[in-house]
Amino acid sequence: MIEQIQKIGNELSGYEFKAVEDTEKFRIQFLGSKGQIKGLYTMLREVPNDQKKEIGQQINALKLKAEHMLDEAKKKLIGTSTYQSKEDLTRPAAKLPLGSHHPLSIVRRDIIDVFKKIGFSISEGPEIEDDWHNFSALNFPPEHPARDMQDTFFIKKGENEIALRTHTSSVQVRVMENNQPPIRTISPGRVYRNEAISARAHCFFHQIEGLYIDEGVSFADLKQTLLFFAQEVFGSSAKIRLRPSYFPFTEPSAEVDVSCTICKSKGCNVCKYSGWLEILGCGMVDPNVLEASGIDSKKYSGFAFGMGVERIAQLKFKVNDLRMYSENDLRFLEQFKSTL
Ligand code: PHE
Repeated sequence: MIEQIQKIGNELSGYEFKAVEDTEKFRIQFLGSKGQIKGLYTMLREVPNDQKKEIGQQINALKLKAEHMLDEAKKKLIGTSTYQSKEDLTRPAAKLPLGSHHPLSIVRRDIIDVFKKIGFSISEGPEIEDDWHNFSALNFPPEHPARDMQDTFFIKKGENEIALRTHTSSVQVRVMENNQPPIRTISPGRVYRNEAISARAHCFFHQIEGLYIDEGVSFADLKQTLLFFAQEVFGSSAKIRLRPSYFPFTEPSAEVDVSCTICKSKGCNVCKYSGWLEILGCGMVDPNVLEASGIDSKKYSGFAFGMGVERIAQLKFKVNDLRMYSENDLRFLEQFKSTL
């Protein structure tokens, strides 16, 4: 028995752990339920009672030594394994959830791309505007209802009025003040109007306005530019029609309808059974506006147009409630992933 204990003791002392797999082999050989130390405890039963205590202590010491060696070896070797995982490491990782662009960003980008193709630059300006750029330079008479408290969010009333811009025509004034023709630019941006929020109106929305000024620019140029735009955005079979209208800053002025793409002009509830959808306002820039911004109205003429991005998005995506665009509801926004 003593010999047996010594033999196992020597084996332990001479044991070399080469790789992490050896720790498990070691455990089975010495400490496992059929291992050598377990065997010694079985043999202990046969030892005469007067020797049991001493031999028992020796076996316990051996067991402690083996456990200690195993712990040390594990500490050293774990992490250095050459062991092949049974997992398939070539399997593609789980997909990361992808975000999506906001529908208004998608439509704004599409519209900008259309006008870029025909040489328009992009101009931006402040959302907080003075009276001159938002109204006066654009030929708004002092008593014009658009200046009224009901339509405009004023920041400062009285002299040198400051307000949130009600349209991006204000940016066009800034462009004209700082550049001489030829000018060909579009101004995308957020605008504000003092309206109660409902499905059909909001206190802020987005516009893209266009301006083209050069020698000899005519109404025919305006019409052709808008037809090109409509066909790029709504498809090559889209038609447009112009109805006379009024804006202080354009003369003559018109409102533009596009043939209803939803019912192919047959009549539906979106076009109110007329076959046409209103999409923008436009006209020839009033000579007063050119002069106010330092452009010679005898030499130059130009056209301007302005559209609501929400309106175009409504027609493209059939979203009828304006509030959806600013509620940040993921169930709504996630539907636009496929348009990336
Ligand atoms: N600024 C006008 C609006 O906000 C749109 C427009 C722009 C109309 C240019 C005509 C010419 O309603």
